Amino acid sequence: MTRYSLTHVGTAALGCLAERTSAIALAVAVLATLLATSCSRKPESAPLPKPTAFGAAIIESSGGKQTAQTGSLLPQPVVVQVNDEQGTAVTGALVEFAAAPGVTFDPTNGLTDSSGQVTTNISLGGMAGRYQLTASTLDKSHKNVELKIEEIALGYQQTLGRHLNDQYCERCHNPESTVQRVSNFDNLDVKPHPFTEGDTLNKISDADLTAIISHGGPALNKSALMPAWGNTLSKSDIQALISYIRAISDPPSRSAGPVYAKN
Ligand code: HEC
Repeated sequence: MTRYSLTHVGTAALGCLAERTSAIALAVAVLATLLATSCSRKPESAPLPKPTAFGAAIIESSGGKQTAQTGSLLPQPVVVQVNDEQGTAVTGALVEFAAAPGVTFDPTNGLTDSSGQVTTNISLGGMAGRYQLTASTLDKSHKNVELKIEEIALGYQQTLGRHLNDQYCERCHNPESTVQRVSNFDNLDVKPHPFTEGDTLNKISDADLTAIISHGGPALNKSALMPAWGNTLSKSDIQALISYIRAISDPPSRSAGPVYAKN
């Protein structure tokens, strides 16, 4: 570096050199601090807990197939369980969670508790679509055993559709009652389908969905127990409902959008 050659110049230059050196030292110190903080932010720098046991299988206890708006926390945590060959829960096995970038787990890993389980809270990514999450553990021969869990992130229009569904459709289309809403399903002579039932809903075109929602059951030669909503809901409300119905169907509809999984 050129600054060393300055030592051959007269004493007047020496003071200048000292100043420069301290400026450089300061810059180095700042850089070092920056590097240190950026390194400590990397999640992989946290050491994994050491397993005290190994399982043979990993299964989903609860929390799969949930729906949440993009970027937000799933309403329920995901709970997975590690079992041995006999199907008995294993305590102290390491479970790690992984997914596409943008998905966060709290925690990302853990040892199974006394019931063989690990619980994690999950926020989905910012893109609407299906997210495939992976939970993995090691078996006795240290081979990776994986479980795939799917969750659905709703975009803006789909979230609007979901609210309209809660307000206008659920009471007949969802057979389950909740504290806030008593289901009318059992009182209906002709049974509507829950909107997750892809086997039925995927066969109905967007145009036919629009027709039955706007004009009621008779528009598709179906029961008049399905009311007409054309005077209550706007065209864009009905589009939002259809977008929601397509997003949640199981099996997925062709217009369900991409699946985001770990690389
Ligand atoms: C009062 C009860 C009731 C409400 C509220 C209701 N539906 Fe229905 N719906 C029905 C019934 C009953 C059928 C089945 C008609 C048949 O199969 O003949 C049906 C059928 C449908 C179908 C055809 C697929 C299927 O499930 O058989 C769609 C799509 C539909 N409804 C959408 C909606 C939407 C969207 C809303 C809310 C805006 C809604 N429904 C609200 C009773 C209802």
